[in-house]
Amino acid sequence: MKVFVTGTSNGIGKAIAQKFLSCGHEVIGLDVQPATIKSANYSHIKTDIFSGELPEIEGIEILINNAGVQNSVRDIDVNLKGSIRVTEKYAFQQNIKSVLFIASASASTGAEFPEYSASKGGMVAYMKNVALRIAKFGATANSLSPGGVKTALNDHVMNDPTLWQQIMNETLLPKWAEPEEIAEWAYFMTIVNRSMTAQDILVDNGEQAKANFIW
Ligand SMILES: NC(=O)c1ccc[n+]([C@@H]2O[C@H](COP(=O)([O-])OP(=O)(O)OC[C@H]3O[C@@H](n4cnc5c(N)ncnc54)[C@H](O)[C@@H]3O)[C@@H](O)[C@H]2O)c1
Repeated sequence: MKVFVTGTSNGIGKAIAQKFLSCGHEVIGLDVQPATIKSANYSHIKTDIFSGELPEIEGIEILINNAGVQNSVRDIDVNLKGSIRVTEKYAFQQNIKSVLFIASASASTGAEFPEYSASKGGMVAYMKNVALRIAKFGATANSLSPGGVKTALNDHVMNDPTLWQQIMNETLLPKWAEPEEIAEWAYFMTIVNRSMTAQDILVDNGEQAKANFIW
């Protein structure tokens, strides 16, 4: 498959690109930063999904909108408008099989930074719009909403033992996901899945489910 992933120089996007490469797919990655992956099947575009030039690429089969920022004053521009821009350019054509958005648990809780949560909630709504419009190509569109994932985006709390313990106390399975596990979900939702569309999948170690039974 011809797979296009944004935000491939670090974290979740890099793990997703590596997962698809390890399964023999061709991966085109995009990031504002230079490439950090070396593979004969990997090519890299260095640009900004919101304000940079998006090159012509024919026949993308899997599109994964992963690039994102947090608490940056550009959260709405990058996470929401940038992902819409990429999707409108590459998704609506005969070869497309699946579009995936890496949203966030904050899309459904509203917790986290205000514009970040709004950008991810908007992304889930836009995902449903894409699912309606892309079905005519036989393609699926879904979003994956992780809770905490161990990437540099979260160094602030991961490197502070007190904050980290508070977070673990809020999480039913007291842990966060590794980027490689999120990559497995992304692979399943775009390659294995052929029948689920217009859905948001929450992978948050039970953070939202945590409830206490008072008796
Ligand atoms: N880490 C988490 O806990 C977590 C949880 C839920 C959702 N997410 C989402 O997952 C995605 C990846 O997050 P991560 O933790 O891997 O972050 P990260 O910072 O490690 O990686 C993000 C990548 O996106 C790139 N990027 C940022 N702005 C860009 C732009 N305008 N154009 C092109 N590339 C750009 C960065 O250069 C970087 O390589 C983000 O959308 C984030 O909101 C992360």
